[in-house]
Amino acid sequence: MLSNLATRDVETLIHPYTNLSTFRETGPLVLERGHGVWVYDSDGRPYLEGMAGLWCTALGYSNEELVEAASEQMSRLPFTHLFSGRSHDPAIELAETLKELMPIPTSKIFFTSSGSEANDTQVKLTWYLNNALGRPAKKKIISRIKGYHGVTVASASMTGLPANHADWDLPLPGFLHVGCPHHYRFAEAGETEEAFSQRLADELEALILREGPDTVAAFVAEPVMGAGGAIAPPSGYFEKIQAVLDRYDVRFIADEVICGFGRLGTWFGSEALGMRPDSLSFAKAVTSGYMPLGGVSIDEPLYKALVSQSAKLGTFGHGTTYSGHPVACAVALKTIEIYKRDRIVEGVAEKAPHFQARLSALAEHPIVGEARGIGLIGGLEIVADKNSKRQYDPKAGVAARCVAFAQAEGLIVRFLAGDRIAVCPPLVISPDEIDTLFDRLICALDRTEAWIASEGLTATP
Ligand SMILES: Cc1ncc(COP(=O)(O)O)c(C=O)c1O
Repeated sequence: MLSNLATRDVETLIHPYTNLSTFRETGPLVLERGHGVWVYDSDGRPYLEGMAGLWCTALGYSNEELVEAASEQMSRLPFTHLFSGRSHDPAIELAETLKELMPIPTSKIFFTSSGSEANDTQVKLTWYLNNALGRPAKKKIISRIKGYHGVTVASASMTGLPANHADWDLPLPGFLHVGCPHHYRFAEAGETEEAFSQRLADELEALILREGPDTVAAFVAEPVMGAGGAIAPPSGYFEKIQAVLDRYDVRFIADEVICGFGRLGTWFGSEALGMRPDSLSFAKAVTSGYMPLGGVSIDEPLYKALVSQSAKLGTFGHGTTYSGHPVACAVALKTIEIYKRDRIVEGVAEKAPHFQARLSALAEHPIVGEARGIGLIGGLEIVADKNSKRQYDPKAGVAARCVAFAQAEGLIVRFLAGDRIAVCPPLVISPDEIDTLFDRLICALDRTEAWIASEGLTATP
């Protein structure tokens, strides 16, 4: 029986990434407030937010300094835009701060309001750049199966997940996908991580050659795949991929929407994984999720092309009303100030070994096939048979059931396709809270194991 609020929800809202059919029975989890790494539902029940919302609330839920930064900017100048040369000091100061933080040579910053818009902007800028450079055929974009880059038309085309393509008439022509760098699932028997990485780099090279290097414009990748399964790359992966991209003058775009701002114990995931992208997209933790903000870094050659295009066309014809919203920029400035002052990124590096040790110990659990991560992000996969890695019928929804058990234990984690579960807590989580998180996750796995037995579920043939 759904509560009054839940019934009103079901009758009025369309929820993203929700089975709108079963949702009519299950209803929503309505959250009301948060404190530290904890959120509380409308009945006052606490949950450890093991997903930092959607991989974003890095500083937890009750940061008064962020609230004050937003409030002060709201009172002073709640809105002005950046169109037609209009500006405001939070955007200027934030762009300066970000330029200094960027792990790659950066000339300018372009702001958006989300990660999808940032990645859409990357596609458009890549096309625009190649038109400016007089190579109009060099337009194809390569990404990876299971990569996640958002839901707008171009970013969803780069995303490599079936739910974002089936019946959406996507991907658009000119968007190509190469293999997923998930060693546990896709390596051949006995293949080392290095050999697997080399095979994927060879596959990328073969695709570029097949399509024609003059037609391939960019390759986009998350340092650690998020929504595709919380998948850390195999060793040597980006080094080998980078060599191929360099060979064929293919622009490398890092989607740092999840990994940016400390998640891997470095300011950006690119630094942790030896990536040398030409540009990166950011969002989420830039404001600790308190305000919607994203953006892309613009390198000097791209900037020069944009300037010459404006001279030719009369304007830079791109941008949205809320690109660089002053309140979002003010909150981002305060967020970054706190990251620096409180040594949040260094703190992640210090806590990560404990987090990863607790995570990898889950691989011993009878229903867990793989438990692996980096920094404060981890993914685990439920399997029916550890040796053969065979899974349960996806229709049984085993990982979803485990996440529901976790919720009943007072823990929020996220299930992903392929019976995977992601863990990605706020960066401010304490070592004791890391223990609470994993203790509760073990209870959820135990309950899932018992449920599997009671249902008589077996591996798919
Ligand atoms: C790696 C990555 N890129 C892009 C996006 C899209 O961001 P948004 O949902 O803000 O549009 C996400 C969202 O989870 C993401 O994880």
